[in-house]
Amino acid sequence: MSVAATHSTHSISYQDLYQRWEQGNWKATELDFSEDRNGWAVLSDLQRRSALWMYSMFFYGEDAVTDGLSPYIDAAPTEEQKYFLATQQVDEARHSVFFHRFFKEVIGAGDSISTGLAFTEQYLNWGYRGVFDRLELMADELRRDRSLPKFAQAITLYHMVVEGTLAQPGQHFIEDFFNKEGTMPGFSAGMENVSRDEQRHIGFGVKVLSELLAESEECKAAVVETLREVMPYSLAVFTPPGWDREYTRSFGFELEDIFAFGLRLVKSRWRAAGYPIEEMPPNVFPFDPDQPEEEAAACQIKLLEAGVLGEPNGAPGASAEVQEIFFGLVANSADKDAANGQPMTVQWRFEDADPWHITIDNGSSRAEPGLTPSADLTLDTTWSEWVDISMRGHDARRAMLRRKLKPHGSMRQLMRMRKIWPPRRSPVV
Ligand SMILES: [Fe+2]
Ligand SMILES: [Fe+2]
Repeated sequence: MSVAATHSTHSISYQDLYQRWEQGNWKATELDFSEDRNGWAVLSDLQRRSALWMYSMFFYGEDAVTDGLSPYIDAAPTEEQKYFLATQQVDEARHSVFFHRFFKEVIGAGDSISTGLAFTEQYLNWGYRGVFDRLELMADELRRDRSLPKFAQAITLYHMVVEGTLAQPGQHFIEDFFNKEGTMPGFSAGMENVSRDEQRHIGFGVKVLSELLAESEECKAAVVETLREVMPYSLAVFTPPGWDREYTRSFGFELEDIFAFGLRLVKSRWRAAGYPIEEMPPNVFPFDPDQPEEEAAACQIKLLEAGVLGEPNGAPGASAEVQEIFFGLVANSADKDAANGQPMTVQWRFEDADPWHITIDNGSSRAEPGLTPSADLTLDTTWSEWVDISMRGHDARRAMLRRKLKPHGSMRQLMRMRKIWPPRRSPVV
């Protein structure tokens, strides 16, 4: 689906969505993979490794979403939504059968679905596991709590994050390569059907959220909570093994392309759901919504490579460039209204990295390197401690008790800082 097409999804009726399902039915068992085996054999070693990495995420993911959708059917408030979700569950099972057939018949891995799934596990990274563990937990939560805010959280995670932000960009780039090459006709035909189904699922998710968010501030707050919680993981899903950038280049695209594509989708989907990201509280998405997507994508990848975002590496990089991107984001995510019209300057002094400060004044914020003589609040800490607090939701108060974070300034200034940068709920348990 083009980005423009996603704008109109909220005007589609549930009946239309159901009808599209009937019209779009296809058979995973009838795809012909005989030519694909040759197509697989002529790939380079690196392309095969890369394909195993990407396809494993799809196969494992399709199985997980099949297993986890039934509580959504129970919790959906209307019959039309329940019926659509029932059709979606059938789709997800069919997608899983399609990927299993490909693994078994083309790759030669996994006689049964369960051995195929066990084979994929070696390719699933930290970010991927974080997202899918949360999805499983969400299904359990929804079984116990069928409230609308919980339903909004579940649709956010499943339809907006997993299907809309992770699966769709992945599908787009994989499909593109094999459509051009023409060497995997069975796979290409199956992926085209999977993509069409997923567009319908995402359209449904956007529609449900547009209805829930239009009538409930509580649902908006619930959605924000889920996005904040899952963001550290979802950003890291496309981290290639060993940070080898050839994993995407061997299929003709850069990681920056996939991130920029995903960012465009995120912006248009939330706009279509009636809750544009510009209207969300700060510190939900770690990028500046006004920045061109290519630039924002490049910044995110630099932070991921440095270990500032994504999987903790114990010693996040603190180059001048990384610090500039990081403090730019911190300044951008400040809730300037919470400063109550009074200027405030916060100074960070790191044992192991250069100092920076941020000034909030008159509705704007500015991050600068170095020391300032006029700080209202000074924080003495280490770079990795602060990265964990600001990006991974570690508890700042605990760090203070452990003397890992030493603030200098009045209690009032400390309280102001907490309002300007509300703590990110810890996703790490
Ligand atoms: Fe699917
Ligand atoms: Fe789906």
